[in-house]
Amino acid sequence: MKKQELHQIANGIYEVVIGIPEVHTPTAHRSVQMRKEALMALPDARPGRAVEILRALSFRISQRGVLLRLPMDPSENIYGFGLQFFGINSAGKRRLIKVNSDPVADTGESHAPVPFYISSSGYALFVDTYRTATFQMGTVAKKGASRSMRIENEAHTEFSESALYALKKSAQEREILIEIPRCNGVRCIAIEGSILECVQRYNLFSGGGVCPPEWGLYPWYRLYGGCDQKEALRMAKEFRADGMPIKVIGIEPGWHSHSYSCTYRWSDLFPAPQEMIDQMQEMGYALNLWEHAFVYPAAEFYEELLPYAGDYEVWNGLVPDFAGKEAREIFKAYHQKHFIDRGISGLKLDECDNSDYNPSDWSFPECSQFPSGMDGEQMHQALGILYQDTIRQAYAERGKETYSEVRSSGALASPQPFVLYSDLYDHRKFITALVNSGFSGLLWCPEVRDCVNGDDLLRRLETVIFSHQALINAWRIPMPPWKQTDIDLSLAKIQMEDAPYYTAACRKLLEVRISLIPYLKKAFEEYQNSGKPPIRALVMDYPEDPNVADIGDEYLFGDEMIVCPLTYEEGTRKEVYLPKGRFYGFFDKRFYEGGRSLTVDVPYDEIPVFVKESSGI
Ligand code: GAL
Repeated sequence: MKKQELHQIANGIYEVVIGIPEVHTPTAHRSVQMRKEALMALPDARPGRAVEILRALSFRISQRGVLLRLPMDPSENIYGFGLQFFGINSAGKRRLIKVNSDPVADTGESHAPVPFYISSSGYALFVDTYRTATFQMGTVAKKGASRSMRIENEAHTEFSESALYALKKSAQEREILIEIPRCNGVRCIAIEGSILECVQRYNLFSGGGVCPPEWGLYPWYRLYGGCDQKEALRMAKEFRADGMPIKVIGIEPGWHSHSYSCTYRWSDLFPAPQEMIDQMQEMGYALNLWEHAFVYPAAEFYEELLPYAGDYEVWNGLVPDFAGKEAREIFKAYHQKHFIDRGISGLKLDECDNSDYNPSDWSFPECSQFPSGMDGEQMHQALGILYQDTIRQAYAERGKETYSEVRSSGALASPQPFVLYSDLYDHRKFITALVNSGFSGLLWCPEVRDCVNGDDLLRRLETVIFSHQALINAWRIPMPPWKQTDIDLSLAKIQMEDAPYYTAACRKLLEVRISLIPYLKKAFEEYQNSGKPPIRALVMDYPEDPNVADIGDEYLFGDEMIVCPLTYEEGTRKEVYLPKGRFYGFFDKRFYEGGRSLTVDVPYDEIPVFVKESSGI
């Protein structure tokens, strides 16, 4: 087995093919093509670290699969790997690229892990696989690498677990080990440039960033799962009466006549859906429907789909093989006729991930077989992205735009009009996920649900309005959270005492979101054309500043704003770091000198947002 000659595939992008790659890979299944002209428009990339890395790459193919070995300098910082909840820098970590909706620890598993990383040393690497690959980012050292370290520690002056176990980072040679199991070959794509340039090139390689329709950037609200048609319309009117500027209303599982798995047919709770859709539109709303991809026997297209589904069921439903044309066509045609042509603006694609840590163990097994030839392991990595692509195409074929949510994603996702979300609900981790999403072509919504109290609600809503999608997901609570945050009291329909205060405070925050739409739209247009993500870790824009390398709780929102969300647990005071420059407080309207850490006092109804003085905003 051979490593083929390295060749250039676009400005700043190179590939090598090792052995015999699999038939089913992210690039083989892409339907949005690389943006070659947009890549040409980026500054010329000379062959540099990426070319060096591909040349240095060594490999072994065995029964274990493919093993790749790459050099790593101990000073390198590593970013990417998709939606990660625990931190932004993966140097010195092992990343398992396995879809999992309930990651219990910092293993790399998540709703949207991506076999793509960016090194601060001037390159990025994308491994074109749906396998559950493992990336060891400088965690291992080859036999003899520590030979020169003959320093003893007789005094043992420092005693702590971390001091005992720490890898002596600077003294050893490091390497990156990538294991891709159960295959005989793989395509590796290396990208030249700074962290930001690598991300831009990866996104343009993926087909460019998505630019959502303007209505998608307005506030969203998902209604209580138990609501019916009458209640949905009543809530829609209540928002208007309370002056809550909600634009998109989402209806949760109860609209299906059977929802786990789905029939994609209205239940008795919604006796006249078209009337409801029309009335919602008259009130200025776009309507979105929840679903997942598992097709219940009572669904109209069940029999037609049967030959084009995997050999195992999920929740008694078929798993469509979206890697094949037939399943996609059947699914698309039904959705076009029943939803897209009738005015539904988008579909929330739930549960296309899976979980090894959830006691109900609900998804298909890894050994499943799909008619396209994909196995269950590959399909777990692919389902989210193929499902998004099917629905994206269904809208595109009707000349309509969509913007919605999805619970799993993966490689080459940037052109997909879907935002990730999770049931995990840890605000701190949600902020880290938001910062990380921008490294790997993903969008993320740290959605608001029920809350500990009103101040927790405000803190969560603040992060949400400075995110890719301003969504309140009230599927578990019948009353809006600004009227009752507590789940039991909400079910008992008891309003909290200070509901008027929190209603007004939330309205104010939602209005801030609306005032930001033109600015955000511009940032998304740039995402589409140049691959620059609208939300970015500070290290992307300030690579020269060593203080920002690990900052995972602050981010750039567009080109002009730095957002530093607080969680309720953090209270009203926080130390933030501002990079070099002069900034203007968005809420407190004070000037701040950057290049330093500072402590800010922030009431619960405000969020520290710093606008570059030069921006003119
Ligand atoms: C979950 C999903 C929630 C909600 C719920 C309804 O899987 O994450 O957002 O849609 O299902 O059953």
